[in-house]
Amino acid sequence: MSPENTSVAVQEALEIKHEGRSVRLPVVRGTEKETALDIGQLRSATGLITLDPGYANTGSCKSAITFIDGEKGILRYRGYPIEELAEKSSYLEVAWLLIHGELPTAAQSREFTAQVTRHTMLHENFRRFFSTLPKDAHPMPVCAAAIGTLATFYQEPESKEHIQETIVRLIAKMPTLAAYSYKHSLGQPFVYPRNDLGYTSNFLHMMFSNPCEEYEVDPVVAKAVDLLMILHADHEQNCSTSTVRLVGSSMANLFASISAGISALWGPLHGGANQKVIEMLEQIDAEGGDVNRFVARAKDQKSGARLMGFGHRVYKNYDPRAAILKRACNDVTRRVGGSSRLLEIAMRLEEVALKDEYFVSRKLYPNVDFYSGVIYKAIGIPVNMFTVMFAMGRLSGWIAQWLEMRDDPTFRIGRPRQVYTGPALRHYAPAAARG
Ligand code: ACO
Repeated sequence: MSPENTSVAVQEALEIKHEGRSVRLPVVRGTEKETALDIGQLRSATGLITLDPGYANTGSCKSAITFIDGEKGILRYRGYPIEELAEKSSYLEVAWLLIHGELPTAAQSREFTAQVTRHTMLHENFRRFFSTLPKDAHPMPVCAAAIGTLATFYQEPESKEHIQETIVRLIAKMPTLAAYSYKHSLGQPFVYPRNDLGYTSNFLHMMFSNPCEEYEVDPVVAKAVDLLMILHADHEQNCSTSTVRLVGSSMANLFASISAGISALWGPLHGGANQKVIEMLEQIDAEGGDVNRFVARAKDQKSGARLMGFGHRVYKNYDPRAAILKRACNDVTRRVGGSSRLLEIAMRLEEVALKDEYFVSRKLYPNVDFYSGVIYKAIGIPVNMFTVMFAMGRLSGWIAQWLEMRDDPTFRIGRPRQVYTGPALRHYAPAAARG
């Protein structure tokens, strides 16, 4: 479905006048009635550009993939509420939905699962790729590099036919690369994928089995990982997705674009927050569990501390993914019998913050990362792999967004402008003449 089909230009227009020149800019409305001013003619007609650091007011594209209403706490993929998909669907089905626009038929689902299962193995030369990296390498840049490296193994042109193969390869190999990057950090041998296991069970097997001991995958744990991946699968034009689109807009290939997205996701203000949440909860625990003291520190902007996992650029009511995960947290910690200490601290922290005027007035609520780390920790995923788990889930959204951009009839290379604030024209002086 082209994004062009899902929005309409309405009669309304705004007139902008500047230094004797003027333009009527059309107002565009999406299917959920969100409204935008189409400024495509602004600069050519008036000489003006817009200035919007952080892009908080800027729509970079029309998109038919994900809808978010941050005020109401709504998240939908291709029109389906996240709550329904979380309860009834599976990650591979959601990946198909995001990429193709519709839920797969039973036959499409079987075929897609079979294809993904068949492509999970990595070229044996990847062993040498991993062996060149330091043992303590963080798995996130390892994954970014490994995904970029796939482009050297698969150099076919990005034709309509080959791109589907590339998509399957990416989805199939990402868990293998992620598990290998973890095994590399432990110094353990890589564990080959198994075709008799489902997508997330296979990932857990490659993470936790070793040649001496087979890891028995607990279906509850596999389901929790699947849920987390569904919740992370797409989130419209966030930092990493915009990166994927921007890199892809230069006609860089899909592997390179996804690799850039992984790098963007790594930062603590984006996907890296789930790691920071656990570090914060452990710090509170180590300091005696006083959540009030930490909240006071997070409110003191001079302290540089933030309540990690709180706040969101878009959600100003609550993050629906956090609400789903809070429930799942209870189930998982009960099932695996791990320490519920961090979950208790997280819940007390949330309770205190949600009553505090500082957080209430700024509309700061728990985001998806507030509880995801607690689940990962409970099921034995090491902290430095948390962001990699996020990337595994987000992969399908990145692919869908990249494809949509390439198919968009208004496609152009992404190239923002700027307001220059440096020195005005001046002339070169030889070193001896500089004061
Ligand atoms: N703790 C304490 N204060 C906060 C927090 C927080 N977690 N988040 C925002 N604030 C304060 C800011 O200091 C600012 O206060 P001010 O208006 O008095 O100056 C106000 O709330 C607005 O914050 P901004 O940083 O301007 O909000 P922005 O939309 O740019 O940032 C962000 C959103 C990055 C998510 C921010 O809330 C944050 O840093 N949160 C913690 C990190 C985090 O959890 N990131 C994960 C995001 S979800 C995701 O990427 C999957």
